[in-house]
Amino acid sequence: MPATVILGAQWGDEGKGKLVDRLAEDATWVARFQGGNNAGHTVVLGERILKFHLLPSGITREECNLVLGDGMVVDPWVLDKELSDWVEGGGTDPAGHRLFISGRAHIILPYHRYLDGLDKKIGTTGRGIGPTYSDKINRVGLRFDGLPHADTSAMATRQNAALEAAGCEQRVTSAELDEQIAWIVNRFGNAIGDTGIMLDNALKMGENVILEGAQGCLLDIDQGTFPYVTSSVTSRGNSTHGAGIHPGHVEAVIGITKAYITRVGHGHMPTELFDTDGDGDHLGTVGHEFGTTTGRKRRCGWFDAVVMRHANRINGFTEIALTKLDVLGGLEEIKVCVGYRMGDKEITEMPSSAKDLESCEPIYITMPGFPGLSTEEWLGIARKCNSEGIGFSGLPSAAQSYISKLETLLGVPVSSVGVGPDRDATIDRV
Ligand code: GDP
Ligand code: IMO
Ligand code: MG
Repeated sequence: MPATVILGAQWGDEGKGKLVDRLAEDATWVARFQGGNNAGHTVVLGERILKFHLLPSGITREECNLVLGDGMVVDPWVLDKELSDWVEGGGTDPAGHRLFISGRAHIILPYHRYLDGLDKKIGTTGRGIGPTYSDKINRVGLRFDGLPHADTSAMATRQNAALEAAGCEQRVTSAELDEQIAWIVNRFGNAIGDTGIMLDNALKMGENVILEGAQGCLLDIDQGTFPYVTSSVTSRGNSTHGAGIHPGHVEAVIGITKAYITRVGHGHMPTELFDTDGDGDHLGTVGHEFGTTTGRKRRCGWFDAVVMRHANRINGFTEIALTKLDVLGGLEEIKVCVGYRMGDKEITEMPSSAKDLESCEPIYITMPGFPGLSTEEWLGIARKCNSEGIGFSGLPSAAQSYISKLETLLGVPVSSVGVGPDRDATIDRV
């Protein structure tokens, strides 16, 4: 079986966790390939709400092996806490049994967090992601395979110089670093391995591998709205590279998008609706739009086909998973952005510069709305559609028209539609 790649097509939080959990039922491996615990992926199993920051969302499937891949930055203390929470919830600690950490992955150390804590410009998650990737690119970072050979006195000297230059009060000592390294080796030594080889072997055996993206295309360091982006390549091109396998394994690339759009942190979002706008308030309230990692209020806006066209060009989606369609229920009219007005020009592609994007005004088309239903009612519709094999035809007709319009605009088929947070609240196309 080939690898399936799951990628956020907007500014993150599209519902990747929910989709990965669902598809992992038929997979034997789920691998993260970039980012770190800036991610917050939610899986809802009835009354149980699980939030994963580092653990691949396939952890919910006992048979599934899990990889923290080569391209990731991993905070071992956050991973330990996530694993304790998992064990407290009745699970078995998978580290070294079915959870493996790439020796090539970089380690987030406390000083990376201190530096990230100074950020005011980007609105980062403050988890040390940017500083850890900086050390990687500068070729001074600490990887899991480098733990036995770490020169902690050189590290302390360099890190203290960086802290001082950044105006940060904290300092680190080599004794402290020695202790931290000993703890990481003791806790995770048995889980460190060549995860690319594990995934490659699984694919050669015909197993099904899911590559779980974090963040979204518009947060990509190269293809996103720079500088208001994260520090990794979030896109298809890095999914195999960051997992240590070749791109030829990939057959399906699922782009996930909300039926509207959200963003956390700074940077322009052309279709943003502000608090004073009733529709914006509706999306934030009905959609419970608060960040999974930092709890910050997510900025909400109308679906932006320019964003999606860009994400599709970069990633070549073979299908789209549309999420949170239920949240649009109860709006009289729904707007879709089909282009931007930039000065006296009309454009249909994302400008590369953040300054140009700031001057873009959305051009909308308007679609009729559909009724607002309760979470249980939407769940009931999803269960009926799937059990009777009627696909999207069990949805309100204006909701079906909305899906068709998006497919026409994007030129990619919608393969599933989310109508609630629960694992079962997704309707598959027939
Ligand atoms: P991720 O980072 O892409 O995994 O997404 P998050 O978990 O950060 O945010 C998505 C939020 O929307 C979570 O609270 C999910 O439980 C919720 N969610 C996912 N799909 C749907 C859906 O179809 N409808 C509704 N109402 N909520 C959804
Ligand atoms: P998931 O995987 C939404 C945003 C931050 C900030 C910018 C840079 O849950 O979709 P960073 O800490 O990465 O240096 O912050 O990126 N950001 C996310 N926004 N979802 C995420 O992940 C995000 N990860 C980072 O808010 O604007
Ligand atoms: Mg999230």
